[in-house]
Amino acid sequence: MTTVPLRVVGPDVPRVLDDWYVLASSRELRKKPLARELYGAPIALFRDEHGRAAALVDRCPHRSVPLSGGRVEDGTLECPYHGWRFAGDGRCVRVPGLTEEPDHRTRRCASYPVREQDGWVWVWATAGDTPTREPFRFPLLDDPRYASVRQTLEMAGTVHAAAENALDVPHTAFLHRGLFRGAGKTNELEVRVRRHHDRVEAEYIGEPRPSGALGRVLAPRGGVVEHFDRFILPSITQVEYRLGESHVLATVALTPRTDRRTVMNAVVSFRLPFVPPRLAGLAGELLRPLGLSVLRQDATILARQDEAIARFGEARFVSTELDALGPTIAKLLRAAARGREAASDAIDERTFRMRV
Ligand code: FES
Ligand SMILES: [Fe+2]
Repeated sequence: MTTVPLRVVGPDVPRVLDDWYVLASSRELRKKPLARELYGAPIALFRDEHGRAAALVDRCPHRSVPLSGGRVEDGTLECPYHGWRFAGDGRCVRVPGLTEEPDHRTRRCASYPVREQDGWVWVWATAGDTPTREPFRFPLLDDPRYASVRQTLEMAGTVHAAAENALDVPHTAFLHRGLFRGAGKTNELEVRVRRHHDRVEAEYIGEPRPSGALGRVLAPRGGVVEHFDRFILPSITQVEYRLGESHVLATVALTPRTDRRTVMNAVVSFRLPFVPPRLAGLAGELLRPLGLSVLRQDATILARQDEAIARFGEARFVSTELDALGPTIAKLLRAAARGREAASDAIDERTFRMRV
């Protein structure tokens, strides 16, 4: 057994500011502005006169009042104090009572690049920047053979802690005993971990159908599962299970609301052979409470972990090879926070065995 002491989060949580994060679902953003945060920076979301999502620094240039407390008028965001109005690009388009042209360099509000796709509103983490890439695409949403369920949940902890937890196999048999794994006999699997410049993936080979309730739903007839866990910069986690015709892909876009609070924006897309496509959405709804009980157990342990880290003033993470992805996720995040241009394209791969 190898032990690797690794300081992952301390006073300095890595911030990846040149990438996209989900700040709302498309359905949440309607007539009213929304107050959001990204790495602690207040952001006001609203829809302009064309219905396009827009994101402004949530502070009126006039007297620093949060614009998200105002309302949307004619596709502009109106400050609740003196009624200055701002267009989606941050230009001041109205100052009540002012006879001269309202738009002026000093009266502009900084705006963030926005994309709306896959039912999410994505915001580039640096205001005024020109994006150098496009947001991650959630797979399978347009495939008629698949149904999808969405869930948003806020948890204590960093993006690293949330991503590691979402992709960590050994805790499932312990923390989620009976719900997910750990109700049957143990098996030995081979795990292949591949790291690329912007992602890391673990493939589990020889994994029998997970025991417990979720396993029975995934694969009623048992068999060997194809299982991949992935982390993709800046904050995407993906868990993929395939068994014959059954296929489940759980993708989560993590959003650092602050350095130490993370919002999970999850889409679970699935195809289950024994469920006709028109009932698949219903099956998803029936499974939601089970998924939520698993997530609540995770949220509780992450909150305890974060409290302990805060109390000690540092994180102490000692890993073994069973911590298949966590240390690499930390490295990817730290490297990306420094700037991604220098990252090499080389793939490195390692293999180990695990008993689950
Ligand atoms: S503070 Fe916003 S209009 Fe005065
Ligand atoms: Fe978990």
